[in-house]
Amino acid sequence: MKRDSTVQTLVVATMLCVVCSVIVAGAAVGLRPRQQANKRLDKKKNVLIAAGLIQEGQVASQQVIDEKFTENIRPVLIDLKTGKRVDASIVNPDTYDQRVAAADPKQSEPIAPAADLAGIKRREKYAFVYEVIDTGGTLEQLVLPINGKGLWSTLYGFLALDSDGSTVRGITFYEHGETAGLGAEVDNPKWKAIWPGKQVFDESGKIRLEVVKGSVPPSSPNVQYEVDGLSGATITSKGVSNLIHYWLGPDAFGPFLDLLHQPKDATPNA
Ligand SMILES: Cc1cc2nc3c(=O)[nH]c(=O)nc-3n(C[C@H](O)[C@H](O)[C@H](O)COP(=O)(O)O)c2cc1C
Repeated sequence: MKRDSTVQTLVVATMLCVVCSVIVAGAAVGLRPRQQANKRLDKKKNVLIAAGLIQEGQVASQQVIDEKFTENIRPVLIDLKTGKRVDASIVNPDTYDQRVAAADPKQSEPIAPAADLAGIKRREKYAFVYEVIDTGGTLEQLVLPINGKGLWSTLYGFLALDSDGSTVRGITFYEHGETAGLGAEVDNPKWKAIWPGKQVFDESGKIRLEVVKGSVPPSSPNVQYEVDGLSGATITSKGVSNLIHYWLGPDAFGPFLDLLHQPKDATPNA
């Protein structure tokens, strides 16, 4: 076969394609465990950031993140329907993957369109609540996983509340596909710094926490519930409000928060 013949060119091109695809596929498969480990670490880091135990932008090694997480965070699995803890004999918290469960028909439930404020269609039966405990073992905060649609993507994050389940301590979004400079400003530390201290519920128990369009005037009668909107990104901002209303509402963490708000000596209704 002539070296510069058409057949020879096609053979060389095909061999090159095969070799390259084997290298790329091998790298993708070989690196998957490391990618998954990095994702798990990033989630832990974001739980710690939401709780204010790691500062935004702080470079923290895997060892520091693991140590802080083990020392301060107690992941608890709850049944979203009842708000009660799930026994480890029913679901093993060490192996439970909430993201996988949300997409698995056996481990999740469809959400009625009218209730689907977050636009996620299904929600897992069991969810983690990350209890933040101080050195004396006292419950300090609760970090709740949240997710919902923005403009282009589903945003995944954490909302940290005081142990009373009513006051915001922090918020983070660790994964989304919104536009840099617009919706992706959900990651902006300056915007996230507005959240701590905001109130979730009014006296009647209604969820009032909300991202508004534009800036919140300091004189606003609802200043304790309102967060400035992201400029040029009203749809993402509305998505954040909606997903918070969904996850703190009756179809998600509502039953869990109701139990938390009950007086400790309240006798359950017969
Ligand atoms: C290329 C492009 C990317 C955009 N990305 C976002 C986004 O990530 N989030 C968002 O809410 N709006 C985004 N918008 C703007 C929306 O289309 C819409 O105009 C905006 O949400 C309205 O917000 P405003 O009323 O604050 O201007 C984008 C627009 C363009 C042209």
